[in-house]
Amino acid sequence: MKLEKVDWDSYYDKIDGRPPRPLLRSALTLYPAEPTVKPRQAVDLGCGDGTDTVFLLENGWQVLAIDGEAKAIDRLLAKVPDELKENLQTRIARFEEVTLPAADLIHASLTLPFCHPNHFAELWQKIVASLGVNGRFAGQFFGIHDSWAVNKHMTFQTEAEVQALFSSFSLEHFHEEDAPGRSASGPKHWHIFTVIARKK
Ligand SMILES: C[S@@+](CC[C@H](N)C(=O)[O-])C[C@H]1O[C@@H](n2cnc3c(N)ncnc32)[C@H](O)[C@@H]1O
Repeated sequence: MKLEKVDWDSYYDKIDGRPPRPLLRSALTLYPAEPTVKPRQAVDLGCGDGTDTVFLLENGWQVLAIDGEAKAIDRLLAKVPDELKENLQTRIARFEEVTLPAADLIHASLTLPFCHPNHFAELWQKIVASLGVNGRFAGQFFGIHDSWAVNKHMTFQTEAEVQALFSSFSLEHFHEEDAPGRSASGPKHWHIFTVIARKK
């Protein structure tokens, strides 16, 4: 897969109608159900087709949805009910130059590996800085056995490298998958770390 050739709009077509990511559902169960003084702030980093942003809005969150593709934001805006729009901000920005607000949750399903490796450390610093104490990160990283790891424009990490990112967090979920499977573009070997972590 050549990153510069990814047709994200046809990816959004292929996953049209998907349910919210199980990772995000799991992360939301970790927040107390009682109402907060003001709505919690989430960032959906690489929001794609917008399904997870809508799920967050429906669960009472304020959301900043960010994606490098204008078509992702268009799809999201078409999905959001009018009454939830006041809790949504959107931004078209690349991970390599994004700025992040203070947040209670950063959700990044299947997105951070698409950050260019030369910019990953800076992006991760921004993620850590945007989360306050008890703020959560819920997201994924690709491992070095992944069949896309030949792509020099993407970021692939060892388990030790992923673990090292979380020195200022308590890990609440850490799962490694290293197995053949399928992506929206066909068969592939998945090597993926799925993490939920709370900032100390
Ligand atoms: C595999 S999709 C995942 C989308 C969504 N989070 C999901 O779970 O379906 C990756 C998303 O990241 C966005 N993306 C890829 N590279 C990016 C970059 N360098 N900067 C900003 N967004 C990027 C794409 O436009 C796409 O929407």
